[in-house]
Amino acid sequence: MMQEHLTIVRHPLVQHKLTIMRDKATSTAGFRQLLREISQLLAYEVTRDLELSTRLIDTPVCEMEAPTLKGKKLALISILRAGNGLLDGVLELIPSARVGYIGLYRDEKTLQPVQYYYKVPDELGDRLVIALDPMLATGNSSVAAIDLLKKSGARNIRFLCLLAAPEGVARMREAHPDVPVITAALDERLNDKGYIVPGLGDAGDRMFGTK
Ligand code: URA
Repeated sequence: MMQEHLTIVRHPLVQHKLTIMRDKATSTAGFRQLLREISQLLAYEVTRDLELSTRLIDTPVCEMEAPTLKGKKLALISILRAGNGLLDGVLELIPSARVGYIGLYRDEKTLQPVQYYYKVPDELGDRLVIALDPMLATGNSSVAAIDLLKKSGARNIRFLCLLAAPEGVARMREAHPDVPVITAALDERLNDKGYIVPGLGDAGDRMFGTK
């Protein structure tokens, strides 16, 4: 059980890689590769308190009761489309995880998130659910995604991102105080276009090479 609502991963490798990702001179290929590497380091942090049990195995030398992850497989939920960038790296570290996708877009008139895709693993209530979205900006889509996961029965949820704005963290804390947020950095603010400042721009565009 994670105690803190907000965890900032201050590991030097994470901070170094994040700086290169923020630099607008970094190429699409470089950005993607760094995101994959950094997500593995963040995955290490978000899973550091997972419960273990043991199972009996034979080593080449003798039998032993060896530690193994307890309970049902984790569920990783990518919030489309930028969540997929985090998903790839996290899956490399936790290859047996179950995977779900949530697609949301913002209605131009109401500015509220609208769901266009939703497919998640079964028995969410029995799994640790890790929702993935690199940018926690206003928090609107993150809160909506967590609402949907809770409606599907999820009770043990963590939110993993790369950058967070204070506005998004506050919104998440208010709507979902039971969901710990794990991020590589807490930036200064949002600008009037909803971008994180100083940020890294549009994470989806940076990773997919779109504009
Ligand atoms: N989404 C992004 O990709 N970047 C931001 O700065 C804010 C939201």
